[in-house]
Amino acid sequence: MCGIIGYIGNSKAAPILIEGLKRLEYRGYDSAGISTIDKNNIIVEKDIGKINEIENKINFSGLDGNIGISHCRWATHGSVTKENAHPHLDCSGNISIVHNGIIENFSELKQKLIKNGHKFSSSTDTEVIAHLIEDNYNGDIEKATRNALKQIEGSYALGVICSKEPDKLIAARNESPLILGLGKDENFIASDVPAILKYTNKVIYLENNEMAVLTKNNYLIKDINGNKINKKIVEIDWDSELAEKSGYEHFMLKEIHEQPRAITETLNGRIENGNINIKEELNLSNEELQKISRIVIVACGTSWHAALVGEFMLEELAKIPVEIEYASEFRYRNPVINENTLVIAISQSGETADTLSAIREAKKRNTKVVSIVNVKGSSISRESDSVLYTYAGPEIGVASTKAFTAQLVVLYLFTLFMSGLKKSLDDEKIKELLEKLRKLPLQMETLLNDNKEIKRISDIYKDKHNALFLGRGVNFPIALEGALKLKEVSYIHAEGYPAAEMKHGPIALIDKNMPVVFIATKDIYTYKKVLGNIQEIKARDGIVIAIATEGDEEIKKIADYVIEIPKTLYILSSILAVIPLQLLAYYVATDRNLDPDKPRNLSKSVTVE
Ligand code: AGP
Repeated sequence: MCGIIGYIGNSKAAPILIEGLKRLEYRGYDSAGISTIDKNNIIVEKDIGKINEIENKINFSGLDGNIGISHCRWATHGSVTKENAHPHLDCSGNISIVHNGIIENFSELKQKLIKNGHKFSSSTDTEVIAHLIEDNYNGDIEKATRNALKQIEGSYALGVICSKEPDKLIAARNESPLILGLGKDENFIASDVPAILKYTNKVIYLENNEMAVLTKNNYLIKDINGNKINKKIVEIDWDSELAEKSGYEHFMLKEIHEQPRAITETLNGRIENGNINIKEELNLSNEELQKISRIVIVACGTSWHAALVGEFMLEELAKIPVEIEYASEFRYRNPVINENTLVIAISQSGETADTLSAIREAKKRNTKVVSIVNVKGSSISRESDSVLYTYAGPEIGVASTKAFTAQLVVLYLFTLFMSGLKKSLDDEKIKELLEKLRKLPLQMETLLNDNKEIKRISDIYKDKHNALFLGRGVNFPIALEGALKLKEVSYIHAEGYPAAEMKHGPIALIDKNMPVVFIATKDIYTYKKVLGNIQEIKARDGIVIAIATEGDEEIKKIADYVIEIPKTLYILSSILAVIPLQLLAYYVATDRNLDPDKPRNLSKSVTVE
C-alpha cells in the first residue's frame, strides 16, 4: 500500500532514503516525502507525484542529517495532496512520522486531540499518530510511541524520529509489513527488502505488536508492553542486481523474461531421481495428508487465477475435490471446513490483507493451512502451518508475471506429490509428468526469444477500448489472467470468459472493433469446440488472436493472428500460454506511453481490506 524506509548511521540520510524509496515506489506513488534531523531540527520535504517528478521541484537528496524517514504513498484516507503526503509532524514540529496502514479509530482520536488543543494540517488518519505521540511525550520517544500505539486500533508499519532524541529511530508494526536492516554502524527500517539490499542482507521481520528502537550501532526489539524480545536475523539471498532492472526498460518486461529462471529456481532441489521432494517443506504428517478429503484455495487477483488452474490439476490428477474462494469473500462467509479440509493460500507478496484474514479464519476452524508465497518471512508465510515458497525472486512490477507461473509450477508439484500419496497416479506416470515439467524452462526461453508477432499485434490493437479473452478448461483461468494483465497496465477494458459462455450474452459485444484473444491450444477435450467458437466470432466480423499449439495448421485457416506455443501436456500448456498474454499487455501499455510498472490506482501489495 505505501512504502517506508528509515535510516540512522554515519552517512547523510537523504540520498540513502530517496534511493531506497525509489525501490519501494511499486507500493504506491501518489506522493512522496522525507524528513531528517539536522542540528536538532526536523526538516520535511514532500509533494504529490512520483519521486522523479518531485525531484524536479525539490532537492530531496540535499537534506542534511544522518537520521531520517521517508515514504511513498498510496492514498487510503485523504485525497492526493501535498498536505496529505507523509511524513507528518506533531504541533511542536519535534516529532515526524511515516505510516503504512489504516487507523480504524482515527476519527474519535482526532476529536479528542483537537479538544486537547492539537492543530491538524491534513485529512489523513496517519497524522493522528504524530499528535498522539506528542500528547504522550515526556522526554522518552520510545515510551510515548508505545503509549500512543496502545490507543490505536488498526494496521500500521510506523517510522518515528524526534528532534529531542536524534540518536533514536523508532519502528513499530501491526499487520502492515516492516523489516529492520542491520548494517555496519548503520541501521535501517523498510517496508520491503529491495529498499535496503544494497546496504545489508541481514534483516529482522517485525511481527504484529512489536516495536524497535534503533541507534546507529545497536537495536532493541520489544513487544507493545515493553518486554524485550529476541528475534532471528534472516540473511536474504537475493543479490541487489536481481532487484534491479538488469537492462530492461521496465521491471515488468524483465520479470516476464525471468520466468525460465524463476521456474528453474522454484523446481531446484524439489525433484530428485524422479521423486518429488517437498515433504519437509509441507511439514504435515502422512496421516494428516492422507486425511485430506477436500481442498479450499484462497487468494486474490492473479493468485486467484493460479488457484483456478490448481483446481484443474488437483481434481484431474490427484482426484481431490477442490473449491476456489476469493479470500475477501471467504473470510466473511461461514465456510464449512474442518480438520479434513486443507486450506491453501496463494500470495506473491505474502502480505495481502484479505488473504491473511482468510487463513486466520481457516485456522480458527481447526484446518491446516499451506501457503504458496514468494516472499520469505512475510506475514502469510509466518502464519501458515507450512509454506511452499515460489523462488521467483523479487517481483517489483505491480502486474504479477513470474510469480504467477511459479505458483502454477508449485501447484503442479504439490498435485503430483498428492497423486503419489493418494495413489491416483502410479510412479511411472508421475515420473513421465515430471519430465514434462522439467522441460518447461527451456520451452519458455523459446517462446520468449521471439516477440515479433506479439509486438505487431499490440501495435495494431493498442487503441482499442475493449477486448475479450476466451478459453476452455484449464485455459479459462488463463483467459481471466490475460484480461487482468491487459486492463491493469493498459487501462483497456478486458474481460475473460469460458469460450462456450459467448453464446449466453457476451457475443452481443462482437464487432470489427473487438479483438478476441482465444487460448486455443490443442488438447484432448475441447479443441474442436474452440474452433467452433472462433467461427462464431468470425461470422460476426470479430478479430481473432489465437494462442495455439505450434504446428497447428487448422487454426491458421480461421484466426486472424496466431501465436504458437511449444507442444506440452494439456495442463502444462496453461503455464506457457500465459506468456504471450503477459507480453501483449506489456507492449500495448508501452505503445500507449504508459508505465507498466506503476499502473494508476494500483499498488503491488494490497495490505488493506
Ligand atoms: C496481479 O497482477 C495484480 N497486481 C493483483 O491482482 C495481485 O495478484 C493481487 O493483489 C494479489 O496479490 P498477492 O499475490 O501478493 O496476494
